[in-house]
Amino acid sequence: MHDLDGLGYRDKTIVVTGGSSGMGEATAKLLGEMGAKVHIVDIQEPSIPCESFHQCDLSDFDQVRATAEALKSIAPVHFMFPCAGLPPHIKGPLYCMTVNYIGTRLFVEEMLPTMEDGAGIAIISSDAGMGWQGNLELNMQLLAISDPDEAKAWCEADMEARVRDGYTSSKELLITWVAQAAVELGNQRRIRLNCTGPCPTRTAFMDEQEKVLPDGFLEAWPYPSLGRMSTAVEQAWPLILLNSPLNAAVTGTFLYTDQGFAPGVFTGAISGAFMGGAADG
Ligand SMILES: NC(=O)c1ccc[n+]([C@@H]2O[C@H](COP(=O)([O-])OP(=O)(O)OC[C@H]3O[C@@H](n4cnc5c(N)ncnc54)[C@H](O)[C@@H]3O)[C@@H](O)[C@H]2O)c1
Repeated sequence: MHDLDGLGYRDKTIVVTGGSSGMGEATAKLLGEMGAKVHIVDIQEPSIPCESFHQCDLSDFDQVRATAEALKSIAPVHFMFPCAGLPPHIKGPLYCMTVNYIGTRLFVEEMLPTMEDGAGIAIISSDAGMGWQGNLELNMQLLAISDPDEAKAWCEADMEARVRDGYTSSKELLITWVAQAAVELGNQRRIRLNCTGPCPTRTAFMDEQEKVLPDGFLEAWPYPSLGRMSTAVEQAWPLILLNSPLNAAVTGTFLYTDQGFAPGVFTGAISGAFMGGAADG
């Protein structure tokens, strides 16, 4: 049991997507240990205790809407942690974009009526989205489409330019959406919306990535603060701290949880050569 009542999670109702594995599981577990009531939404069943589990494929918009409808019974939801996501090669770029951005955004938007005013939402994006400002003009076009079927059709109309690998683009879009939507959510309901950008992290996701990355790629990756890949728990803590009501002045933020990688690349302290096409993690 963690005695961290000051963080504001005890007895609170929380929804975690992707709570059945990796960073989402670590987040759900820590919050449960802090006395929160944690509800998990995932395509696969969790192996940790939770208040309720809702099986949902975030690429299936009817399932997403039905899951949000079912979760009305637990209102008011105080915090949400959308952690679900997958790498592009598992089911292709469009599926990756659909789960990581379109379905995740739909789920958050469908959940808003069930969330209390002043709630917090902290999403896992990725360091892979660190170039989001360079693709702002294109990504804003997709951001402007709120209907998920129309968003998917916009993507399909020019996969090469609009979807690319499906991962980098989806993570850029999460960062861009967070930056924009936080303003209205704050003004209207004092809801805070933030996201994190992890570095390579030892999870099932990374086990899949290793199958397609060049030999030695992850060993050569710079890990200034830990000297190694981070663990799921080391990514869960910044997500939990970011979403705490103690951070009342923080919204619309993309928080690098990447051991200094992106800032290092931006300043030249880390060689940009590491940002080749394989840097999807
Ligand atoms: N592991 C890394 O190196 C790394 C780095 C940066 C960002 N991320 C991001 O972190 C987040 C968590 O990933 P992780 O590393 O803990 O991986 P993980 O595979 O351990 O967990 C991902 C979870 O998402 C769920 N999920 C996948 N597809 C889904 C779908 N269609 N519908 C509903 N749930 C689905 C999985 O079942 C799983 O429980 C992801 O968004 C990922 O993109 C991971």
